[in-house]
Amino acid sequence: MPEAFDAVDLIKSKRDHGELTTAEIHWLVDAYTRGYVADEQMSAWAMAVLLNGMTRREIRDLTIAMIASGERMSFADLGKPTVDKHSTGGVGDKITLPLVPLVASFGVAVPQLSGRGLGHTGGTLDKLESISGWRASLTTEELFAQLRDVGGAICAAGAGLVPADKKLYALRDITGTVEAIPLIASSIMSKKIAEGTGALVLDVKFGSGAFMRDIERARQLARTMVELGADAGVATSALLTDMNAPLGRAIGNANEVRESIEVLAGGGPEDVVELTLALAREMLRLVGQPDADVEHALRSGRAMDSWRALIRAQDGDPDAPLPRPRETHTVSASRDGVVSRQDALAFGIAAWRLGAGRARRQDPVLHAAGVDLHAKVGDTVAAGDPLFTLATDDPVRFERALDALDGAWDIADSAPERRPLVVERIG
Ligand code: URA
Repeated sequence: MPEAFDAVDLIKSKRDHGELTTAEIHWLVDAYTRGYVADEQMSAWAMAVLLNGMTRREIRDLTIAMIASGERMSFADLGKPTVDKHSTGGVGDKITLPLVPLVASFGVAVPQLSGRGLGHTGGTLDKLESISGWRASLTTEELFAQLRDVGGAICAAGAGLVPADKKLYALRDITGTVEAIPLIASSIMSKKIAEGTGALVLDVKFGSGAFMRDIERARQLARTMVELGADAGVATSALLTDMNAPLGRAIGNANEVRESIEVLAGGGPEDVVELTLALAREMLRLVGQPDADVEHALRSGRAMDSWRALIRAQDGDPDAPLPRPRETHTVSASRDGVVSRQDALAFGIAAWRLGAGRARRQDPVLHAAGVDLHAKVGDTVAAGDPLFTLATDDPVRFERALDALDGAWDIADSAPERRPLVVERIG
């Protein structure tokens, strides 16, 4: 059968600020997924989108076409509401770990399909794999059984979910077209809608450690995704959150699990607790529990019980000791004062260079590698006090990690103005 359209016409149409029809968008995504449209043609089209944008209708069509490229799950038979969270990624962002069991402890199913880290932002699956025996892959039957029996599951997305995105995202990564808001929004939302969640809360981050440096672009991305969710019948809202400084004190894998367990035990750093509670309230609001006492669920140990059940269900041992690094290097304050800045991106790169993240998809991560902050922005320090500790198994890595941190923090005479962590709710 002859092809319905010509890729070159669609590229030229976007190049010349045109609007593609629904049929054209569906054909383009399908023809690219089956290999008829070549990578170089799709990259030219993606660049035209980056430069000229897409209308709301085009973005919706693109999202629907991407979903149609693979399988779609449904949790309609589960007998309980489903709600998920997606973060656009940040440094020290371990919120999924305490959040999923916390929300699940309210009788809600949380199907959290997560990814691995690439570059300076960590991956949830890499963090959880620090736990002895824990397994990221679940069959669809195992996922359903776990959502029914335990409530929360954190696992790898199956290969059949939105194959068009896997291909297109890899292409965008090497053609300078990742930053296009229509492409980011359709990429994220196609996966979340195909996953079958009934409700979704987006943590859209802005600042130095985030994908979007600028709050206005983060707001635009959040609005676009909330609209796509609403169009697909998924109750969706977004929180705009500050990612200029690392979240919490731990950046890495095993250390982030340790910090998450502290939160589940009713302690942990203030910012991690604040964001976990804000996202949990929002998720529970969307599934009809606006008055859920999320603080009590942390204090009473109910969320911790749910965590232990989740880890055990995926063959992990919640009591096994977490890996410790072979080598550490501590950096101390050179003067008295108040920590006034810690650049999230630089700390993320340092943790990555220590081995907490990977440069290539196939590389392993060092679970014990990372950075632990002893002081956070706003803390008073005296000369000689430890500021942060670098950890790795391989001491040659310290030098490049320290290079990344050159100029990445300041100590001032007085405390900086306190900036809100959760800036705005959209949707
Ligand atoms: N995360 C995604 O899944 N897709 C994007 O395009 C960007 C971030």
